[in-house]
Amino acid sequence: MKEFIEKMPKAELHVHLEGTLEPEHIFSLAQRNNIELDYSTPEEVIAAYDFHDLPSFLTIYYAAMNVLRTEQDFYELAYHYFERAKADNIIYVEPFFDPQAHTSRGIDFETIIGGIKRAQEDAEVKLGIESNLIMCFLRDMSADSAMEHLEMSLPFKDHIIGVGLDSDEKNNPPEKFAEVFAHARAEGYKLTMHCDVNQEDILGHIRECLDLINVDRIDHGVNCLEDDGLVQEIVSRELGLTICPVSNRFVVQSLTSAEIKKMLDQGIKATINSDDPAYFRAYLNDNFIALAEEGKFTKEDIVQLSRNAFDIAWLPDSRRQNYIDLLNEFNSN
Ligand code: ADE
Ligand code: ZN
Repeated sequence: MKEFIEKMPKAELHVHLEGTLEPEHIFSLAQRNNIELDYSTPEEVIAAYDFHDLPSFLTIYYAAMNVLRTEQDFYELAYHYFERAKADNIIYVEPFFDPQAHTSRGIDFETIIGGIKRAQEDAEVKLGIESNLIMCFLRDMSADSAMEHLEMSLPFKDHIIGVGLDSDEKNNPPEKFAEVFAHARAEGYKLTMHCDVNQEDILGHIRECLDLINVDRIDHGVNCLEDDGLVQEIVSRELGLTICPVSNRFVVQSLTSAEIKKMLDQGIKATINSDDPAYFRAYLNDNFIALAEEGKFTKEDIVQLSRNAFDIAWLPDSRRQNYIDLLNEFNSN
């Protein structure tokens, strides 16, 4: 199974580029940008990764990003991820980025997007990895700030396929951003939102995503299984869920393998993703392999999880079919 997973062509639809910032890279960027760190080795950084819920993770995640300053820094961040993705046989990616986490430190939007875009172009040519960017708003910042960043993104609309919503979910429901997401939709962006596992009023948040925001997919969303009405709605709309097993384990002490199996059985388009792989110390193949070890998945289930990702990717149908053909060819050999 491990070799099968490693060789299987895959798409990744839920990975935060800032969550791919490896400790060694934090050190090299700190040195280049003359920034003092509280740690003296990458191992010490990893030892401080003590997450047990979303806020405890976010504190460390935002602190580390302070080393990202120049266009070249953002280029390297993204390109290192694409190289790592290549090693996992990922052929298509829709990565998230968090512009407000950088503009709030005085970094220009153009610097961020310029570096990432250049890495995407190089990854396509040199690594054969296609990607489409998703800009996330930080839900613990104001709706006005989100709207300002939406406006800032418009000159770069050709390089951004959709918008998402991440960061601290407590008391920050989808409804807070209804106007911003309506505006994003009118500008042609696809829409997704995090509904992180076991958050306060999570079923209410998923319901708002469906009824108020009219999302094109949901990030995480595992808790939908607790409400038959939500499940029916998600299945009938063919809405995809981007599940992140190792990330879930930090919150619920399980890879949610039983839930993922149930989703497949119920016809929900569940996909497997890494979320913040440098922090959770698990890239996409590690997530699939751990999941297959914890749960009862056949090879067909594993292929279905990969097929779901191509099915729900924000791609033109002809491109989608090319990828599904590659997966089918792999599966028939
Ligand atoms: N930002 C980066 N990773 C995140 C996660 N797992 N949940 C919410 N916001 C995030
Ligand atoms: Zn996430």
